[in-house]
Amino acid sequence: MNSILPNPNGIRRIGVLTSGGDAPGMNAAVRAVARTCEKNNIECIGIYRGYSGLIRSDVVPLKARTVNNMTSKGGTMLYTARCAAFKTEEGLRQGVDACKYLGIGGLITIGGDGTFRGAEKLANAGINTVAIPATIDNDIGCSHYSIGFDTAANTAIEVIDKLSDTMQSHERASVVEVMGHGAGHLAVYVGISVGATAIVLPEGGFDFERDILERIREGKFNGKHHFIIIVSEGVTDTMALAERIQRETGVETRTTILGHIQRGGSPSARDRVMASRMGHFAVEALLKGETNQVVCYRDSRLLLTPINEALQMKKPLDEYMRRVSYELPI
Ligand code: F6P
Repeated sequence: MNSILPNPNGIRRIGVLTSGGDAPGMNAAVRAVARTCEKNNIECIGIYRGYSGLIRSDVVPLKARTVNNMTSKGGTMLYTARCAAFKTEEGLRQGVDACKYLGIGGLITIGGDGTFRGAEKLANAGINTVAIPATIDNDIGCSHYSIGFDTAANTAIEVIDKLSDTMQSHERASVVEVMGHGAGHLAVYVGISVGATAIVLPEGGFDFERDILERIREGKFNGKHHFIIIVSEGVTDTMALAERIQRETGVETRTTILGHIQRGGSPSARDRVMASRMGHFAVEALLKGETNQVVCYRDSRLLLTPINEALQMKKPLDEYMRRVSYELPI
């Protein structure tokens, strides 16, 4: 049964957009927004291509049935973009004008930090906004979880398990680069899951002798015949690292850069459920009169954090996770 929400801002129409890098589960969040709107007799419109679509008023009505089967679909049905024009004063003015012209009483923006910055600017210009964290990097400081992380990790694990089979047969080393955008959350999570011999992380500095050579030597001494080395993108030249490993250990080494494959695919149960909850929560927040907020998942529950505070919050790598990743494989 629906509870009656106060709707102090008299919102009649809510807009939703996805922005920045896509993440599996974005569609489930859009579906949740559209359906929660309909349950509350509010119109919902989807805005194409993030803020660049907003500036151009490029929209589509979203009815409950428009979003059929969207929990299982990867990517984003609204398309996504990174919009440089929106970062200018002129772009912001166009965005605000578009919201007024389209009758958008509340806007839900789904994405990462850059998406939040756009939402904050709109909120400060008088548009009610609530943002939802969605990025495979899971690097949003205010939220223990970001939509897409679990699916991306599972995609990486599935591929690395396959690599591991062939590396084991040939007694080789496999250097695998995963995404992360300057944060090691995905790398460490994947590394624990596949029992990586070494994980090269952006946090804490990288030392070839200590972080790779010693680990492979110790692994060999303990009877290991094949080695998985996970590299978080951007820390070092992954191809050159593999060549150096082969040169200095004598172990034949191959490189795999997983790249955008990590961003695709049908979302996992965790991402579907989290996206459904966050989308529902965001609409209810707007209807309760909230604005300039991020939906955050902390200590097993959803809550709101003001966008300016959310943008200041850091998410250091979990040191215990790091210790587990280090101690178990060898
Ligand atoms: O932020 C998500 C992410 O997938 C990062 O992990 C990666 O560095 C970046 O986006 C890649 O972006 P693009 O889609 O522009 O190649």
